[in-house]
Amino acid sequence: MTLAAALKTRRQNLAKHLDTPVILWAGQASPRNFPANTYPFRPSSHFLYFAGLTLENAVIHLADGHLTLFMDEATPAAALWHGPSPTRSELAHQIGAGKALPLEDLKHFVREPVATLRVQDSATAAQQEQLLNRSIPMAKQCQGQDLALLQAIVQLRLGHDPQALAEIRQAARVSVNAHKTGMAATAMGKGLTEAHIRAAMEQVIVAEGMNCAYNSIVTVHGEVLHNNHYHHLLGENDLILADVGAETETGWASDITRTWPVSGTFSSTQRDLYEVVLAAHDACIEAAKPGVEYKNLHLLACHILAEGLVDLGILVGQPEDLVEQDAHALFFPHGVGHLLGLDVHDMEDLGDLAGYAPGRSRSERFGLGFLRLDRPLQPGMVVTIEPGFYQVPGILADRETCDRYTSMVNWDRLAQFADVRGIRIEDDVLITDHGCEVLTAALPTQANEVESAVAQG
Ligand code: GLY
Ligand code: MN
Ligand code: MN
Repeated sequence: MTLAAALKTRRQNLAKHLDTPVILWAGQASPRNFPANTYPFRPSSHFLYFAGLTLENAVIHLADGHLTLFMDEATPAAALWHGPSPTRSELAHQIGAGKALPLEDLKHFVREPVATLRVQDSATAAQQEQLLNRSIPMAKQCQGQDLALLQAIVQLRLGHDPQALAEIRQAARVSVNAHKTGMAATAMGKGLTEAHIRAAMEQVIVAEGMNCAYNSIVTVHGEVLHNNHYHHLLGENDLILADVGAETETGWASDITRTWPVSGTFSSTQRDLYEVVLAAHDACIEAAKPGVEYKNLHLLACHILAEGLVDLGILVGQPEDLVEQDAHALFFPHGVGHLLGLDVHDMEDLGDLAGYAPGRSRSERFGLGFLRLDRPLQPGMVVTIEPGFYQVPGILADRETCDRYTSMVNWDRLAQFADVRGIRIEDDVLITDHGCEVLTAALPTQANEVESAVAQG
């Protein structure tokens, strides 16, 4: 199926959910320090879903399944600095737009009610408000036709069509190669920092003409959940936690984490905890199929982690009771995963409107509050499965938390696992008609295979 045909189907599906015309803005690059030196441009995901191309400063109008593209032709001055670009008509042809007009003409298409969603960059958001002559709030405060649009988009983007899946598979393939390269690069010898491994991994992504879908986490301090520092030297006894994912040219993401030993061999304590996390990961994948509540996968992971930690003597008690009291969250404080698509946390710009089924909201519980997805799984959804074990000082050194859980943790036994700061194993999983397919299965998870991949360097 061509891109234009896939986009046409998406537009027609939107028209089935919504009879209001829609205007979506791509957005524009934000300046770093002066206007000509910008942060990399990445269009709004809602624009990309219907327009399919990375077009800066473009706008689409959708009505009854018809698409009109608005953008200005590149000026001669722009061509001087940026080289030749395709014409507006050529781009319109690629995406199946019936008409292609200059931005100036957009004002003639504004007849309320018209639905839109606020873009992330403030300069474009101001243009949206000026053109529509009304405020356009963030998704959580949306009302009327904008809320109806947002709900329609959630319905469409929850399940991926073949064109989207082909893109996600490509991103997954490149991310798998990036991780294999990172593992092999670790064996290069003494004096390496996290930055060396990050560079080795990201070069695979860049060489494929792709970008990273999010800021890479490549760290020997895996206990810092979103660690974006890369300066630490790799210690002989450290584990590296690498959470790195590629995004295709048209914005479709992947999201993979692996954890491997710098030395190429897990210590016995590292291996024990790795096996516990892997058991939780494998059980969730085994259980993932249509109709299963994602929250129950999270609770399954919590249960298996609690059971494993009891077996190792770190937690004390019955796994059911420990999970009920959120003792597992001392070591696994986040959710087991999230939706994946055009965004690494797909549609998280809409708050929990995509992640949570209507009528559901975040739990106040320590062990459930960070769950990003609480819906029954359905065919075509792509989710991550990413259980972990972390020794987070902010949790374990907190007086109140320690007091609350003191009888459930064998602190002396825990101290014997000091060489494990953080382990996460994360894969991307497509829900199929009767089960699931791990899109990132080509990257090993078994401890021995991970060791071999490091040894290959
Ligand atoms: N890469 C961010 C996450 O796994 O959620
Ligand atoms: Mn993830
Ligand atoms: Mn991740």
